[in-house]
Amino acid sequence: MASLPAPLLAPSLLAGDHANLAASAQLVANAGLSWLHCDIMDGHFVPNLSFSPETLAALRRAGNKLYFDTHLMLDEPHRYIEAFAKAGANLISIHIEPAYDHAATLARIRSLGCQCGIVLNPGTPATAIEPFLSLVDLVLVMTVQPGFGGQSFRRDMLPKIQQIDTWRRARALGFRLEVDGGIDLATGRECHAAGADTFVAGTSFFRAADKPAFVAGFASLPVR
Ligand code: DX5
Ligand code: ZN
Repeated sequence: MASLPAPLLAPSLLAGDHANLAASAQLVANAGLSWLHCDIMDGHFVPNLSFSPETLAALRRAGNKLYFDTHLMLDEPHRYIEAFAKAGANLISIHIEPAYDHAATLARIRSLGCQCGIVLNPGTPATAIEPFLSLVDLVLVMTVQPGFGGQSFRRDMLPKIQQIDTWRRARALGFRLEVDGGIDLATGRECHAAGADTFVAGTSFFRAADKPAFVAGFASLPVR
């Protein structure tokens, strides 16, 4: 493998204006970014509710062309893959923690023309996702307990990021290594040093008064 994926910033729509999501997504495009992180919650796997497939479909109808990085925080994600693929998801990530056929669900995501990812909560060891590394386009390491934006970054997740990056290099795999929760330029840099290349930023992106400077900070991270 020539090099690992180039650093990429994925603002989280959860921190946008829920009364005007199309405008919030447009802010991301206007900042010159290509990814939009879309958090989907079911009130069971996490104690909160957020968006539905219809939210993504409505953004597409409004003309949004961003790459929808879709993070399913669902107990039964396998029941909703078709709906999100049809709604315009480009990448669909599923959590390892609930009991369902993870490999079959990843294959289903691929068969529908989307890229696929596997996600692990702070309390889940890296070994839980190790068997899936060769099957995915992205591994998402949660750096907060999922469910809400605006939480503090969990620095104790850095060794887990390092472990997954070490496996990626040793096996010459090309998946993206994404972090999500409490990410700003400072914590993003720490995650980048540990091996992450894909940075979800909700609160920090939408609150940044100088978005070009915020984006430039991430763009200046070197390819590792
Ligand atoms: C948390 C979500 C995150 C959230 C991150 O459950 O998965 O994507 O939007 O928000 P910040 O960046 O504010 O921590
Ligand atoms: Zn997320």
